[in-house]
Amino acid sequence: MTKNIKFDFTGKVTIVTGAARGIGREMVKAFIQAGSFVMAVDRDQEGLLETCQRLGDRCRQAVADIRNKNEVAGLMQAVKEAFGGLDICVNNAAVAPHTALLEESVEVWDTVYAVNCRGTFLMTQAAARLMIEGGKGGRIINFSSAAAKRGSAGSAAYASSRAATESFSRVAAIELAPHNILVNTVSPGLIDTQPKPLPPDMKKGLEARIPTLPLARPGWVSEVSDLVLFLASDASSYMTGAVISVDGGSSVGVRPAGPVVDDDIRYDWVTGVHRTE
Ligand SMILES: NC(=O)c1ccc[n+]([C@@H]2O[C@H](COP(=O)([O-])OP(=O)(O)OC[C@H]3O[C@@H](n4cnc5c(N)ncnc54)[C@H](O)[C@@H]3O)[C@@H](O)[C@H]2O)c1
Repeated sequence: MTKNIKFDFTGKVTIVTGAARGIGREMVKAFIQAGSFVMAVDRDQEGLLETCQRLGDRCRQAVADIRNKNEVAGLMQAVKEAFGGLDICVNNAAVAPHTALLEESVEVWDTVYAVNCRGTFLMTQAAARLMIEGGKGGRIINFSSAAAKRGSAGSAAYASSRAATESFSRVAAIELAPHNILVNTVSPGLIDTQPKPLPPDMKKGLEARIPTLPLARPGWVSEVSDLVLFLASDASSYMTGAVISVDGGSSVGVRPAGPVVDDDIRYDWVTGVHRTE
């Protein structure tokens, strides 16, 4: 689908974490196309190289683990040296294991929280400090998931960690507002990012789930990056502390299985008369 959407981030500096694949890779491309300087960040060096190839000089890359305070500090130093400051920070990196609650190990639980919560906290704090130093305000965009709002078997650690990100982002929005730093959260639903072919069970599960989504299809990575660019742009200048879904309606309900009809014909809803047949 061709869309007539244009954002201009000429001269702005953007960090995108989790840039080695999926939604992060798409966001790096989108910010570069919109004129921004971009620091693409991931712990996967090979994936980062692939993301940044052919994107030109405005795209730099940094291998860093967002769980690690020193690596996050080093990353901000690299951004300062490369670009002189920071305007936009997109905290997209996350891990999302699918594990039964009764089988879940403490190690996996702690890893999920270390990446999704501590990583988002460390990145938000360090990015905000750099933005405050620059004195021009900024935008921080954090990531949640539709799974944060509704129960989803297998996602105890992931879903609860994303709910924590939403809560954290509301506090960050309030504390950073006096510095003119706006903090918003993007909550995707099912987005087509999985490397193919899928394992058979996952394929089966998705095939059953997709028709139940209100829009009956997974989202595209570009549909998430469109929202992120909007939240980084002047068009969202009165938005902070918001959690915005980009989920094809999955957080509000399921697609009707057929035409919507009045299935109880025993009663006239206007007159209150019970019909006899
Ligand atoms: N894809 C979906 O259907 C979906 C649905 C809901 C929410 N989300 C959210 O969207 C975001 C991106 O999802 P995705 O599917 O593109 O993810 P993905 O798994 O494809 O990519 C995540 C990236 O983060 C990187 N990463 C993981 N841990 C890291 C760490 N400690 N330090 C640095 N980098 C690290 C990985 O190497 C990877 O490149 C996540 O925040 C996720 O919670 C995705």
